[in-house]
Amino acid sequence: MCEEYHLPDLKTARCKKIIKNFIVNDNPYLKTLNMYIDIWADRETLRISIFETKPYLEGVYHSIVAEFNFNSFPGTSIYLVSSGTYVNYTHQGKGIAQTLQKVKQYIAKELGVYYLICTTNGGNIKQNHILEKTGWKKINTVTSKVTGEKNLMWILEIEKEKEKND
Ligand SMILES: CC(C)(COP(=O)(O)OP(=O)(O)OC[C@H]1O[C@@H](n2cnc3c(N)ncnc32)[C@H](O)[C@@H]1OP(=O)(O)O)[C@@H](O)C(=O)NCCC(=O)NCCS
Repeated sequence: MCEEYHLPDLKTARCKKIIKNFIVNDNPYLKTLNMYIDIWADRETLRISIFETKPYLEGVYHSIVAEFNFNSFPGTSIYLVSSGTYVNYTHQGKGIAQTLQKVKQYIAKELGVYYLICTTNGGNIKQNHILEKTGWKKINTVTSKVTGEKNLMWILEIEKEKEKND
């Protein structure tokens, strides 16, 4: 029988504060932005987004800086899928995706999963470089029959299973 597993509700002010502190302490560039964290979650998906606000005319302009999703892997709490990693073009090259990698590891650990999984396009040189640099292992390379594109599958160990003494 499959385990019943839902992504815990992280929509708390405390959680947003922790993630924001984590991000600004890790990335000096993000520290310079007037930014806030948005967390969206349902039973299968958790989306962490970073927005910045800027004064605009009489009001305030909100724009996305970066985001990623965690998708639960059906039927198990061992694995989580990371997807939709995105850094707004105007903020690329400032180490934000690498900061997000640390945030991903931190949250995955909080959620109690053992492994993160993701796929990338073989031609996505930047993201593939970042994954290798941040400890992900490439476990498969397959060319899609549908798109003809090379797809890479990656896995990141978050925590080792503790050996039982009994
Ligand atoms: C891929 C993406 C998330 C990277 O975000 P980013 O914040 O600019 O990345 P970072 O600044 O943290 O790191 C970029 C790294 O790529 C390297 N890089 C940049 N261009 C490169 C190139 N042409 N070849 C090899 N490495 C390259 C940089 O040198 C840097 O690595 P380093 O710190 O070891 O020097 C961003 O470009 C993006 O959102 N792209 C569109 C969406 C996407 O592809 N998402 C991933 C889906 S799987």
